[in-house]
Amino acid sequence: MSLRAMPTNPIRPAARSFPSTRPRRLRRHAWSRRLVAESTLTTADLIWPLFVCEGDAAEPIASMPGVVRHPIAAVAGVVAEAAKLGIPAVALFPATPPGLKTDEALEAVNAENLINRATRAIKAELGDAVGVVCDVALDPYTSHGQDGLVRGGYVVNDESVELLCRQAIAQAEAGCDVIAPSDMMDGRIGRIRQALDDAGFERVLLMAYAAKYASAFYGPFRDAVGSTSSLGQGDKKTYQMDPANTDEALLEVELDLAEGADMVMVKPGMPYLDIVRRVKETFAAPTFAYQVSGEYAMILAAAERGWIDRERAMLESLVAFKRAGADGVLTYFALDVAKLLD
Ligand code: PBG
Repeated sequence: MSLRAMPTNPIRPAARSFPSTRPRRLRRHAWSRRLVAESTLTTADLIWPLFVCEGDAAEPIASMPGVVRHPIAAVAGVVAEAAKLGIPAVALFPATPPGLKTDEALEAVNAENLINRATRAIKAELGDAVGVVCDVALDPYTSHGQDGLVRGGYVVNDESVELLCRQAIAQAEAGCDVIAPSDMMDGRIGRIRQALDDAGFERVLLMAYAAKYASAFYGPFRDAVGSTSSLGQGDKKTYQMDPANTDEALLEVELDLAEGADMVMVKPGMPYLDIVRRVKETFAAPTFAYQVSGEYAMILAAAERGWIDRERAMLESLVAFKRAGADGVLTYFALDVAKLLD
């Protein structure tokens, strides 16, 4: 209904002067703005994605200023700082040494791979003080950079799912709290749930990258895990979603919830807030959004040039997720935000 068409409010006195309604009154002071704010960003809303690497020195990531890959020896300490600030969970991603990447991605199921060692190190130091989220997908481990196995030029579904189940079990055995499949193969949530249950991991949570789009905004992440050159001119459009679609996102979320997902995720974040809203309204399930590497890089790049204010853009972008209906956000800003809110 347009304002013009609104019936006269009987409680309000008849307009005496122009303008009859002054929304600016509530915006006049910081206290009244705070009082009527509809959405709040808190540290409890944050999941911090972290990259881990071999060796014993942190490695900067050129396309993500301020983000580094952490060596295993340092990761528990870094996560301890996040936990102390109140960040509920971290999400781990490996920069697998190129020599360990193969067409069959067997390093993904290695109990001693980077992710599983990092998980054990964090859990040994912090126990249940922080949740560990592990990504399930083959791209950090494949020589071709695809999330599944390639047969005859096509990323095959069912055979990939079998390997993803083994990857998830290895992560659960290492102590992972939340298995987060980001591969977008059909039917994988149900299969992984079953595999986890059969192995006695019925308490391990599943966060499904349910509505994950084939996006240009993953560029810096692929640098961070070293899959850019592997993927080359290839893309992931035969399994990640078309940015033009929304109904398909609802179908993906519906399937993942039916198959046993405890939480669902929309990814990327900022350009897909309409999807977050629709998913939250339709399913009323725990809904997360991933403010991905390219979104982080855009804000950082503009801030470095002095074109936008880094801190304000960071906070505004994150409260927007809350406004859209997200219960939490995966963001590379998590530690900075937690320090700011502390
Ligand atoms: C792996 C995965 C990707 C991201 C998270 N998990 C990359 C991709 O799908 O190519 C992207 C995260 C980011 O850009 O921050 N499947």
